[in-house]
Amino acid sequence: MTERLILGQTLTFGGDPFTEGPEAARHERHGAVLVRDGLIAAVGDGAELRARHPAAQVTEHGDALILPGFVDAHAHYPQTAIIASWGKRLIDWLNSYTFPEEARFSDPAYAAEVAGRYLDLLLTNGTTTVASYCTIHPESVDAFFEAAQARGMRALAGKTCMDRDTAPAFLRDTAQSAYDDSRALLARWHGVDRLSCIITPRFSPTSTPEQLEALGALWAEHPDCLMQTHLSEQTDEIAWVKSLYPAARDYLDTYEAHGLLGPNGLYGHAIHLEPREIDRLAETGAAVVHCPTSNTFIGSGLFDMGLRARMRVGLATDTGGGSSFSMLRTMAAAYEVAQLRGTALHPSELLWLATGGSAEALRLGHRIGRLAEGYEADMVVLDLASTPAIAQASARAGNIWEAVFPTIMMGDDRAVLQTYVAGRPARG
Ligand code: GUN
Ligand code: ZN
Repeated sequence: MTERLILGQTLTFGGDPFTEGPEAARHERHGAVLVRDGLIAAVGDGAELRARHPAAQVTEHGDALILPGFVDAHAHYPQTAIIASWGKRLIDWLNSYTFPEEARFSDPAYAAEVAGRYLDLLLTNGTTTVASYCTIHPESVDAFFEAAQARGMRALAGKTCMDRDTAPAFLRDTAQSAYDDSRALLARWHGVDRLSCIITPRFSPTSTPEQLEALGALWAEHPDCLMQTHLSEQTDEIAWVKSLYPAARDYLDTYEAHGLLGPNGLYGHAIHLEPREIDRLAETGAAVVHCPTSNTFIGSGLFDMGLRARMRVGLATDTGGGSSFSMLRTMAAAYEVAQLRGTALHPSELLWLATGGSAEALRLGHRIGRLAEGYEADMVVLDLASTPAIAQASARAGNIWEAVFPTIMMGDDRAVLQTYVAGRPARG
């Protein structure tokens, strides 16, 4: 049995820094992670682990920082090619850029090409797990899972369902086909290797009540499954939802009334929430996902991180509405958005959101998101001096937080020295 010993600074969390403070972190200046059969067998002092495991294959990362791999809790892999499209707000952006591009995923060869390119971009940026929307085409889900499987990644995805005439005719399913296709994909992929299916109504404006009802029924048959959708991203969108669902108490009620609110629900954006919506999300144990680069890029608004006191919160790129594949850039945007709301998020809080916090939002906090014995050995190794600008700032650091913060704020894929997927190096 081959053991691999990966040496460097290690940083992980024993608890939640939002409630316990930075002391929740476990930092080893000269640390190591021992990997066996794709899992973490031990984390500790480098010299000690080296002495105890003399036969292990050693990889030395020196001063670089070993973290759990980043977890992106909400993204749209089919929007890879339209990232950074100019000048539109949500509804126009969907119609002008997103829907025409998503139509191309009826072609399995195109879907396979983009899925592979997308997951390689994630690995280049240190992201080892993603929860992605696909398109209405079941082939787009197959392509994504096949690409993730080939890379050994833990990945979650679902067929995006839209049957309402608010979506273009070339990109519509039906209530019945959405149910049937999502069910068949669940049977094919859910729990295979490191893959999970998510039931995925895009958002209530592009679904009929009948489709929401059908997907609610499917979720009731598979309550262990996650369900992901969008919630209260832009004020125009909320007004649109009110006009399409006049009987609903609020946006969340369009989901709640159709069996689409529950403890395994994952609600992207969740910016402009009513008090009742916050109460119901909290009472039901649902999670929300903060997508800060998207919320500024599409002009949606400033997420309230105070929600963390009441519910699980994940962090996500939301590409291609988000403007970066990098969770470093996403943490920086989360910092900036919180500053605009009067709060400075600590580096420990940002790193937690991008690792264990997002893992918990995805109900995977027992498998990924931490460097701890028994966890899956997904890791990112960061150079904390990857550019001259970052190097000169981090050189002044008096502690690990000051050393890592310039990389959080200014780092990109040049900072990612290596990404490990189930203990295996994913980069050259
Ligand atoms: N709301 C419904 N669909 C989408 C999407 O693809 N991106 C974003 N940002 N919001 C959405
Ligand atoms: Zn989204």
